[in-house]
Amino acid sequence: MTNQIIFVTGNPHKVAEAVAICAPRGITIVQNDCGYPELQDDDVARVAAYGAEHVVNRLDCAVIVEDTGLYIDALNGFPGPYAAYVYDTIGNAGILTLMRDTGGNDERRATFRSIIGYCKPGMTAITFEGTVTGRIAYEERGAGGFGYDPIFEIDGVAFASMGDDAKNKVSHRAKSFEKFAEWFIRHGKA
Ligand code: IMP
Repeated sequence: MTNQIIFVTGNPHKVAEAVAICAPRGITIVQNDCGYPELQDDDVARVAAYGAEHVVNRLDCAVIVEDTGLYIDALNGFPGPYAAYVYDTIGNAGILTLMRDTGGNDERRATFRSIIGYCKPGMTAITFEGTVTGRIAYEERGAGGFGYDPIFEIDGVAFASMGDDAKNKVSHRAKSFEKFAEWFIRHGKA
């Protein structure tokens, strides 16, 4: 019985967050940076499932991938599953500009959705979801984290300001990896 799983991602921050959740539960995360095509789809769960199945066909072993969407209420859920493209094009400054005339904490509500796709040879991918709701800040803050962390805040504290341990207590990814780890320990070991 092995309690090791290959996590296909090029993002070292995601790996660190996954390890922080999985290692204490006895699961070893092994990063593989082989990449996979990102399906353009409205549902991040389908993106993660498609990615996991694609990688299994290539590596011929059990794998996980993880895909994140960011849904901003005032922008009708934008950028949603296109969070990576939007980050690479307009970035945090662009989001803050789009939100310039949006006032009040409730109006600035936003939700991160993390989906882990798990697949192994001969099976259809299954997914594990974690979400966290916070607010889009009025300005970038903090030096930690990655991506949208400087503009996503909970109770007035940006993910980029709260430190890795605190983020990992509340984040979307912590929740999806907790669900995955619980399932993997019971059913997933090869
Ligand atoms: P992806 O899952 O790597 O496609 O992520 C989509 C976009 O959201 C990328 O621009 C990431 O940098 C960003 N992102 C993913 N997870 C997080 C997070 O935990 N905090 C902030 N930004 C994130």
